[in-house]
Amino acid sequence: MFAAKGGVGKTTIAVSLAHSSATMGGRRTLLWDLDPQGAASWLLRTGPRAGLKARAALAGEDALLDLVRPTAFPNLALLPADRSLRRMEADLARTDRAKQIRRLMKAFARDFDRVVIDTPPGLSEVADRVLRAVDLVVVPAIPTPLSARADTQLADELRRSHAGGPALLPVWSMADRRKALHRSTIAGAPARPVIPYAAAIEAMAARRSPTPAAPPTAPAARALAALFTEVERALLRPAA
Ligand SMILES: Nc1ncnc2c1ncn2[C@@H]1O[C@H](COP(=O)(O)OP(=O)(O)OP(=O)(O)O)[C@@H](O)[C@H]1O
Ligand SMILES: [Mg+2]
Repeated sequence: MFAAKGGVGKTTIAVSLAHSSATMGGRRTLLWDLDPQGAASWLLRTGPRAGLKARAALAGEDALLDLVRPTAFPNLALLPADRSLRRMEADLARTDRAKQIRRLMKAFARDFDRVVIDTPPGLSEVADRVLRAVDLVVVPAIPTPLSARADTQLADELRRSHAGGPALLPVWSMADRRKALHRSTIAGAPARPVIPYAAAIEAMAARRSPTPAAPPTAPAARALAALFTEVERALLRPAA
């Protein structure tokens, strides 16, 4: 989950995808909250164990697995965020840990079928490491020409700096069909999955729930389920 901009629905989508993977997909799923603000951890009502610091994860596999917490949902575990993550940038810069996140992902592969990572907004040292370690990057953007442009720039940048790197899955997020600008921007890239702007999705934060406040047949719930299907399809597609 990555976007150059903030507040575009990254955390909402990350939590939803992780929950779908665990429940609908029946896969052992880990949500790794790498945002020091800890919104994903908060949504899943799961904090770090007392005395353990998320940043310690960089120290190695054993420290990392100690940090993983079960959630209230079957098959869904969480590596919660805390404020120590703010120092992770400096840790990464100071030491040669370019491959560390990739190594940690390998360690996770023993216990989990899927790892969903929620990153803070913007390109950073941490984001850069994450982008080198994952198979697929889901990039939500609000459908306006400016954010679409920021996305294209990001995609170009990724292709340049991470040749042979992860596949990108751009997603229209918070799409409001009443806005002509949103409709026309979406029409410019009609193949992209669309997550509508919906009170039921917004309410996930207030309810601290990984599912929208709507029946599974409601448009918002169907859009999130369709996105999960699309992500699974992209992950199972053989690398080009
Ligand atoms: N599809 C949607 N419809 C309505 N509200 C939404 C939708 N997606 C997210 N929101 C709301 O918008 C706000 C920002 O969403 P979210 O926290 O998921 O974005 P983010 O990209 O993770 O933000 P940040 O960059 O701060 O990490 C939240 O209040 C969330 O509930
Ligand atoms: Mg977020």
